Amino acid sequence: MRHFYKDKVIWITGASSGIGEALALELARQEARLILSARRVEELERVAKQTGLPPLDIMVLPFDLGDTSNASALVAQVINKFGRIDILINNGGNSQRSEAMETSETLERQLMEVNYFSAVNITKAVLPYMKRQKSGHIVVVSSIAGKFGFYLRSSYSAAKHALHGYFESLRLETEKLGISTLMVCPGKVKTNVSLNAVTAAGNAHGKMDPSHETAISAEACAAIIIKSIYRNDEEVFIGGKELLAVKIKRFFPRWFGKIIRKQSPY
Ligand SMILES: NC(=O)c1ccc[n+]([C@@H]2O[C@H](COP(=O)([O-])OP(=O)(O)OC[C@H]3O[C@@H](n4cnc5c(N)ncnc54)[C@H](OP(=O)(O)O)[C@@H]3O)[C@@H](O)[C@H]2O)c1
Repeated sequence: MRHFYKDKVIWITGASSGIGEALALELARQEARLILSARRVEELERVAKQTGLPPLDIMVLPFDLGDTSNASALVAQVINKFGRIDILINNGGNSQRSEAMETSETLERQLMEVNYFSAVNITKAVLPYMKRQKSGHIVVVSSIAGKFGFYLRSSYSAAKHALHGYFESLRLETEKLGISTLMVCPGKVKTNVSLNAVTAAGNAHGKMDPSHETAISAEACAAIIIKSIYRNDEEVFIGGKELLAVKIKRFFPRWFGKIIRKQSPY
């Protein structure tokens, strides 16, 4: 992997915290050139400073994943500065802690926008440049919630499932252009994801789920993603024993039905 990331132009969404922040710091150590996106400019600036990269090699590009109708203009800004995009990491996202029956249509659409349509829009705006380069890597941070539904996660899980349908199709269509697609499925990673998860009232949940307290670190998760991109994997699962649920659902669906009902939503 030595030198693989050197001078590669890598755009990370959700770079102000958690997995995205850890990716930014490790990729900077590996001498990549970075574009950092999320909503909170001051947090992005903090991460940018922490990378230690010179201004020539880093760009802070804040925007809201809830409205990516300006994706082409965002991509144009990146191309203006760096001239190319080697790797796009669609990592930004927002989880949910509300029962389906209590979740308004507005909130459902917002969760689909932030967790699904944003990745589609940004990727489609980047693809023409990757096609011209005859190379590129699209990384999509899904979840094990993209493999099975779970309590209080109806729209979040729907959005993550949708990512698989879309990006697995896109992979088949674009690999002949030299473009690779990696689906990342974390289980539990110790980040602010549960604190930031949206409730039925539209507020942040504000509590860390006990299952996240003891989960693997964002740094460990980022290291596995970085290795998977290098290995050109198509899909990677990251986490602890919760990952077993994916295999159990596939091979023993009736047993899965029994054990999933016994799990705490938190
Ligand atoms: N941690 C886990 O256990 C876990 C498990 C499975 C999947 N994931 C996925 O991993 C990805 C990263 O999450 P994380 O665990 O690192 O959580 P996190 O610490 O809450 O980070 C989420 C990131 O997404 C950004 N974001 C959220 N809503 C946004 C919006 N509307 N517009 C722009 N940026 C937005 C946040 O930045 P701002 O607030 O500054 O906008 C932040 O940088 C997400 O896609 C999540 O679904 C995480």
